[in-house]
Amino acid sequence: MSFYITTSISYVNGQPHLGHAYEAIATDVLARHHRQRSDDTFFLTGTDEHGEPVADAAKANGYEPREWADLNAEKFKALLPELGVEPDFFIRTSDPQHEQKVQDVLQRVYDNGYVYKGTYTGWYCPRCADFKVENEILEGNRCPIHEIELTKENEENYFFKLSAFQSQLEALFAENQGFVGPPRARNEAEAFLAGGLQDVSLTRAKLTWGVQVPWDHSHVFYVWFDALLNYYTALSYARANADLTERYWPASVHMIGKDILKFHTIYWPALLLAAGLEPPKGVFVHGFLQGADGRKMSKSLGNGLDPLDVTERFGADALRFFLLREVQFGSDGPVGMDAVANRYSAELANDYGNLASRTLAMIARYRDSDVSSRATDPELAAEFTGLPATVSAALDAVDLTGGLDQIWQRVRRLNRYVEEQRPWELARDEAAAARLDTVLASLHEGVRSLSVLLYPFIPAATAKVLAALGTPDTDYSAAAFGTHAAATARVEKIPPLFPKEPD
Ligand code: MSP
Repeated sequence: MSFYITTSISYVNGQPHLGHAYEAIATDVLARHHRQRSDDTFFLTGTDEHGEPVADAAKANGYEPREWADLNAEKFKALLPELGVEPDFFIRTSDPQHEQKVQDVLQRVYDNGYVYKGTYTGWYCPRCADFKVENEILEGNRCPIHEIELTKENEENYFFKLSAFQSQLEALFAENQGFVGPPRARNEAEAFLAGGLQDVSLTRAKLTWGVQVPWDHSHVFYVWFDALLNYYTALSYARANADLTERYWPASVHMIGKDILKFHTIYWPALLLAAGLEPPKGVFVHGFLQGADGRKMSKSLGNGLDPLDVTERFGADALRFFLLREVQFGSDGPVGMDAVANRYSAELANDYGNLASRTLAMIARYRDSDVSSRATDPELAAEFTGLPATVSAALDAVDLTGGLDQIWQRVRRLNRYVEEQRPWELARDEAAAARLDTVLASLHEGVRSLSVLLYPFIPAATAKVLAALGTPDTDYSAAAFGTHAAATARVEKIPPLFPKEPD
């Protein structure tokens, strides 16, 4: 099965922030999970470089748009390894191959009769790069997202006949119940659709920083159409000697934030249909992370959380784990450094890190690092039955927090098992040798299977644990408790996975 997942592409008008990190991490978890399942996986991310938001920021900073984009795209690219995020390709919308393909596809939309020349009169937000329709506007003609005053635009543009796709989009929503998740986002998209679609500007004559319109060189494409097409164009040139379009299109999941829902759930499928292409299979809308005070993160409030501050202090695994555990994925929620520190010590260091270290240390000490006995405790095994299927079902529904919680309940169960069985007492009693074998084999197998399941969330720590257990395989077929059939495994002790912070 092929699995093609994307993040939205980031505007290069500012610095990468926690919102970008959040989306990249969530997408990376799903990509790693599908790779584990041996799905033919492709994970795309990148930068959105054209249009007003970038041109304005470049000008304000005294740069040409291209120089500005080059400078900032590097920062977005450099963030990814700091987060343990491993995409298969990083697209920049200023790539010449992207631009060429945008022209090809939109020329097809034109040739298919979905483009006409008209005059746009209405409200426009330069920060969103969005032409707002009347019911999207706050009192005083302000942007509902940026709260700034909108500008009244009056310009001659080419329009895309979005209205022609009303019934096709209704059918798409009806036929594909999973098209937009979670349900709240789906309702919002359906409400927008029910309001009746109006045609939208496809080109702009006022800007030069964009992809030139092939049938009229005095226009560039409106940045949103250029940007949305990245998901399609990237496949044609991500690999030097292969066009991956057939292999991966249509996309399985576009991961986006709630502020860009209309573009992805309405404009995007309509544009693809207009070009004779298949719409994506799914769009998942994650929530917004807020400051610890529950307010919108902002420089002036000083309530932001910088992803690199977290990774420097606690590591990439800790940031990944924290973000997906602290806030139900798909909802908004507050985050802050104190909460990171709490989960780091209570959950990563104590629950998982200690469990792994203790298991390895006890096998080293009581069995000279050898767990040749594979007989595990049937009662404990029963509590793990079906866990891989439960976790993959949660992840298929993009319930990252729910899947992680299922795993964590078993991490806690194994800690209770240690306390119940007291292997250190069994070790003192020769008559209990067989029982100790079973307890140690059960712990080895429990930690191993949980580490395979946790691998997409905390890849660095789990890889260390699995190597130390003598079972480095992260394949999902090895995720069930009891699948490790090798007759012997030699373990190695490891230093603390999540060390205490120096006082
Ligand atoms: N360039 C457009 C997307 C084009 S996709 C064809 C864009 N870029 S952005 O840089 O402004 O936002 C990138 C992503 O970050 C969006 O999905 C947005 O919702 C998300 N987030 C921005 N702030 C966020 C939080 N505070 N919390 C979580 N995600 C947020 O929009």
